[in-house]
Amino acid sequence: MDPIKNPFAPGAGTAPPELAGRDELLENIRVAIERVRLGRPTKSVLMVGLRGVGKTVLLDRMRDEAEGAGIQTLRIEAPENRSLPAMLAPELRRALLRLSRNAKAKNLAQRSLRGLAGFAKALKVKYKDIEVGFDFDPEPGLADNGDLEHDLQALLEVAGAAAQKAGTALACFVDELQYVEEEQLAALITSLHRTAQRKLPVVLVGAGLPQLRGQMGRAKSYAERLFDFPEIGPLSEEAAKIAIARPAKALGVDVTPDALDLVVRKTHRYAYFVQEWGKHAWDAAPASPIRKQDVEAASGAAIAALDESFFLVRFDRLTPAEKRYLRAMAELGPGPHRSGDIAQQLSRTVTSLAPTRSQLISKGMIWSPTHGDTAFTVPLFNEFMQRIMPERDWKKA
Ligand SMILES: Nc1ncnc2c1ncn2[C@@H]1O[C@H](COP(=O)(O)OP(=O)(O)O)[C@@H](O)[C@H]1O
Ligand SMILES: [Mg+2]
Repeated sequence: MDPIKNPFAPGAGTAPPELAGRDELLENIRVAIERVRLGRPTKSVLMVGLRGVGKTVLLDRMRDEAEGAGIQTLRIEAPENRSLPAMLAPELRRALLRLSRNAKAKNLAQRSLRGLAGFAKALKVKYKDIEVGFDFDPEPGLADNGDLEHDLQALLEVAGAAAQKAGTALACFVDELQYVEEEQLAALITSLHRTAQRKLPVVLVGAGLPQLRGQMGRAKSYAERLFDFPEIGPLSEEAAKIAIARPAKALGVDVTPDALDLVVRKTHRYAYFVQEWGKHAWDAAPASPIRKQDVEAASGAAIAALDESFFLVRFDRLTPAEKRYLRAMAELGPGPHRSGDIAQQLSRTVTSLAPTRSQLISKGMIWSPTHGDTAFTVPLFNEFMQRIMPERDWKKA
């Protein structure tokens, strides 16, 4: 059918035509943010899950809904190798400038902007990537200690007080939180703990790979009590079908039940894969309805597109030793796997492979569900590794 009208939207962070199966989670976040606004005890929320399950699009939707409800939002994506204060400063500035237009919040918002100026100047020594415009001169003694943990606390406290005056809340939406360094996570946790104790309306809605939960616990042992960690997994069978059927229907196209069943099976209900199969099945179908054989015919193209867009971007950033490690894991199946079994595949010791394993963890390729276990952070990555590094040559590669 006409590819121009194709509604499906595979892509990292690309909003789907139908955000299927996430209503309950969206409602929980809405409630949490509204509770924060009222100063009721509420946990911040960190969504954890593998790549491609739909965390980023959820975060974006939650943010849009919060903005619609008059919440002041900050949106940050933590890339590798950038500091949290550098990413936070300009977003906080935008929120504070908006707050300073509110008559009740004006004074505190301006004071916060002074705090932000002091914060940025003092921390610039350590976090050289901080770049933020100054609207006011710093207020000596306010958030300008040069110690992130202390200064972030002071800054979020005064900013939270400004939000409170305006009858709103500050909600920070942070994606890829697993890339934030431990001491910076610790500062964030302490600051949120402080604002929560003071009943100030500041809340974090974050997303990250599954290792985030452990990272937070290591950064501050009480983090597990301070946050909820909803796990974002594959869609339910019903949601996966809705994700395909509804956007098609909206364009007058039906999808047969056995075609939907096959999409469920081929994609294992992973959101990214569902979009990819939807897209290619649409293109493959001659006319409505999209049938089982169209889904079947689309599979080759869907897998090729996934390899290009979803898998290869990750694979290309790896060293040869890292690739071999992942390939050895793939040999053992989808996982998780024991470190000893992986080492055995490579005829190496666990200790000698430890540096490679930890590099792969910090690159976000693998994680450790329990001590000594290793799992992929990308669904079906084992199958991809077998495609890209075929049996015959990987051991000598
Ligand atoms: N609930 C959903 N229903 C349908 N498609 C979804 C859903 N969530 C995500 N997607 C699609 O899955 C893909 C990956 O989403 P993304 O948010 O980037 O995942 P993550 O951030 O977890 O890696 C995108 O193409 C998006 O449109
Ligand atoms: Mg994402």
